[in-house]
Order: sequence, then structure tokens, then C-alpha cells
Amino acid sequence: MADPASKRVLLTGGSSGVGFEAATVLIAQGHELTIVCRNQATADQTRSLLPGSVHILICDLADLGAVATICSQLVDSGAALDALVLNAGLQYAGASDPQFSAQGIELTIAVNQLAHQLMAMRLLPLLCKADSPRVVITASEVHNPSSGAGKVGKPADLGDLQGLRAGPGFAMVDGNPSFDGNKAYKDSKLCNVLMARELNRQLGAVMPVIAWSPGLVITRTNGGFFRYNKRSNPLGMGAFAFVARDLLRITESPENAGRLLAQLVCDPEITPGFNYFTNKVVRFGGHRLDPTDTSADGADLPKAAELWRLSEQLMSELPISLT
Ligand SMILES: NC(=O)c1ccc[n+]([C@@H]2O[C@H](COP(=O)([O-])OP(=O)(O)OC[C@H]3O[C@@H](n4cnc5c(N)ncnc54)[C@H](OP(=O)(O)O)[C@@H]3O)[C@@H](O)[C@H]2O)c1
Repeated sequence: MADPASKRVLLTGGSSGVGFEAATVLIAQGHELTIVCRNQATADQTRSLLPGSVHILICDLADLGAVATICSQLVDSGAALDALVLNAGLQYAGASDPQFSAQGIELTIAVNQLAHQLMAMRLLPLLCKADSPRVVITASEVHNPSSGAGKVGKPADLGDLQGLRAGPGFAMVDGNPSFDGNKAYKDSKLCNVLMARELNRQLGAVMPVIAWSPGLVITRTNGGFFRYNKRSNPLGMGAFAFVARDLLRITESPENAGRLLAQLVCDPEITPGFNYFTNKVVRFGGHRLDPTDTSADGADLPKAAELWRLSEQLMSELPISLT
């Protein structure tokens, strides 16, 4: 018989960084984990590095058709889901040219937001089968223009969602035709916060819907979060990492951030409804995860509903089967 304390968890972005470290903790705690990996090579590597058994689904989250396919497989399996953890993300730091998915969607918004909204839309019936389900979404403080990182460069601002209204091929969600990789990332993280707000509204606050920010997390191994923009200057990125991590000590380790994500997946004290937590720097080299207010834009419920509706409409008009 299955251990009643063991949770069935579906995790995106479990092949590296915060998600990989969370997966390590969740497996060690005896939870039943399914990780969505981009391709077979990533799947094999992730399986070989994790300390126990894990189910893997192969899916490039940039391809919304592939996302719809794995959702159908999961729904057909009928297995209840205790936690849906939408953690994958990418940033084309410093990029000024957009890249597009197979369906013509700019990749930052396709992966960070639309793939995750589609998973939330399709997998809700499996969550509703569980006794005590929850959704956890890895957002970021950069969604907030008054946070330290949110102030650097152009702030997150979705305008009136003109890009989404225009359909595939938009560079920025606000409809601006010139791409700014850093702003696109901030915008996508604001979208993540709004997705959590709207999901919670639709559910009627029956389960915890948790958005959180892990802090500035820098790995020592794979270039971390900066690796997606192949034109990034590795020396500049290395210098930034050295100053932030080793001199200023304002960064969080992937291991600690992963432990926090695992805690958010399991903590029975987190109440049903929308929750937002930030892993804040509290002293030289130290962090603490605290409940926090989102930005004003991140609390805009009509905008959250409109973002969800336009995203759903955009995806329904793509040449993919969503059923
Ligand atoms: N690092 C930070 O400072 C920071 C700060 C705030 C918030 N966050 C958020 O934390 C989350 C995790 O980031 P991280 O720092 O752990 O970075 P990471 O090490 O780069 O992990 C990103 C994960 O997302 C996956 N992913 C990206 N594109 C994908 C795609 N098309 N299909 C399938 N999987 C894809 C990656 O898979 P591959 O291994 O195949 O690339 C990887 O598993 C992200 O949502 C990020 O926005 C990070």
C-alpha cells in the first residue's frame, strides 16, 4: 500500500538548479516524483544524478503541442496529483533579438508562462482528485519594479497585453515590437504571479496556490540561469557571479533554494488561497523565506483574469490539439 505521507508531485525544471535540488530533497523524503525534461539526453542525465527513482516525461516546454500531449497522457492515466510545481524558466539575458517557438511564440513567454498555464488548465482535474492538493509556481522578485533586482533596467510592465491580443509573432507581451530579453523575463515573472492569482480565484481558494521567489541563485557549474543567451559574455557573467556571490554575498545557493521549494511543496501550515513568499537577504550571506506582498501590478485581479483569458484564447488558436 502507498505511504499516505508520500505525495505525488509533478515538477517542471527539475533537471538543474533549484528544481534539481528540490527533486533531490523530495525523493529523499519518499515522495513520488515526476519530472518534465526537455529531451532524452537531459532525462538520462537527470535520472543518473538523482538519488532514487523518478518518473520522467520528455517535453520541450517551448512546444505547446508537446505540452498538450503530456497533459493528455497524465489525464488519461487518471492518477491524482498532490502538487503541481511549475518551476522551469529561462532568460535571454541581454538579448535584443527574440527567438520563437515552433508555434511562433517568443520563447521566454512560451516556456515561463504559457506552457505552465496550459499545464495548470489541463491538470486541474488530477489535482482535484487529491485530498490536499496545491500548486507552486516559481516566480521572482524581478516582477516587482520596487525590488532591488526589479529596478535594474526596464521594469516589468504588461501594458494592456497588446502582444497577446495580436497573436503569434509578438516580441513583447505589451506589444512593443523591439525585444528586450531582460524585460521579457521580468514580464514573464509578473505573468507567473498573475497566473497564481487567477488560478486561485477560479478555484475559489480551496487549495494553496503558492508563488515564490528563490532570491538570486547562481550555480558554479553550468552557467546557471545565464546559459540560454549564447551571445552572453562569459567573462562579464563570471564577474557578476563573483561579485554577487563571493564579495557581496547576496546570492542563495541552489541547494538552499531547492530545500525551500521542497518545503513549499510539503508544508502543511500553508493555508488555502493565494500565497506569495520571498527568500530575502536578511544579513550578510543569510536569507529567510517570508510571506511578502506582490507588486501592485501583481495584485491586479482584472489584469490577471484578462491575461489568463487572452493566453487561453491564443493557445486555442494555435495549430495544436489542446484536448
Ligand atoms: N536563478 C535565479 O537567480 C532565479 C531567481 C528568481 C527566480 N528564478 C526562477 O527559478 C526557476 C528555476 O531556475 P534556476 O535558477 O534553477 O535555473 P536553471 O538551473 O537554468 O533551471 C531551469 C530549468 O528549466 C528548464 N527548462 C528551461 N527551458 C525549458 C524547455 N524549453 N523545456 C523544458 N525545460 C526547460 C531547464 O531545463 P534544461 O536543463 O534542459 O535547460 C532547467 O531544468 C525559474 O523559473 C527561474 O525563473 C531563478
